[in-house]
Amino acid sequence: MNRLYVLQSLIRHKKLKNYLEIGVLNGHIFFKIQSPFKVAVDPKFKFDRLRRIGKTILNPYNLTSQYFEVTSDDFFEQHAQQVFANRSIDLCLIDGMHEYGHALRDVENTLRYMSDKGVIVMHDCNPVTPQAARHFREWNGQGFWNGDVWKAILHLRSSRTDINVFVLDCDYGLGIITKGNCENPQRMALEDINSLSYQDLSENREQWLNLKPQEYFYEYFKVPRQ
Ligand SMILES: C[S@@+](CC[C@H](N)C(=O)[O-])C[C@H]1O[C@@H](n2cnc3c(N)ncnc32)[C@H](O)[C@@H]1O
Repeated sequence: MNRLYVLQSLIRHKKLKNYLEIGVLNGHIFFKIQSPFKVAVDPKFKFDRLRRIGKTILNPYNLTSQYFEVTSDDFFEQHAQQVFANRSIDLCLIDGMHEYGHALRDVENTLRYMSDKGVIVMHDCNPVTPQAARHFREWNGQGFWNGDVWKAILHLRSSRTDINVFVLDCDYGLGIITKGNCENPQRMALEDINSLSYQDLSENREQWLNLKPQEYFYEYFKVPRQ
């Protein structure tokens, strides 16, 4: 199971339509999404017009996509109100700057424009090595990097009871955030979260992330196995 599978399954079986992706890179996921309303946000897209045309031939939904080559903070400050004036977000992949504060802002800003049935999928929530969990300023661009997105999960679980948050144990940790009943709140003082270490995460991983086996996806959303 990976993020593309989860997104496509939710689109197909939960009839989720309006899609936002924060952190798009070359569009590997974005261009495959089948939705009539798709919004891409990234300060530096890694694709050109030609790739967009090619991807539109393969998936005609890309014809009506909207592209914002800005940071997610700038997108929410300058564009989101207009983009989502007449419709709300049903499905969002958050995969931009893998850093605690950024990831947290991306979730909180997305929630403001998300429908009640909406789902946020946040990538990179479960780093399994200290190297993968380094802060951006310590990452040299080599190897895979999950950053400290996991702290945003812990923060959300400790601060909000109006959303439900868990992490699927697959694809570097897929954070799943939905509106409504919080099933398993965490009580961590918010001011303590930033200084937590990878070692702390290792010792409390299942509890802090509300980590679930990937099979839980079918149970929670009541979608069939494909
Ligand atoms: C891991 S890649 C995204 C991969 C893509 N979602 C996929 O699944 O194939 C991370 C992307 O986040 C973008 N990014 C970095 N800082 C960002 C920010 N502040 N706001 C939005 N995107 C950001 C980078 O430019 C990069 O393209």
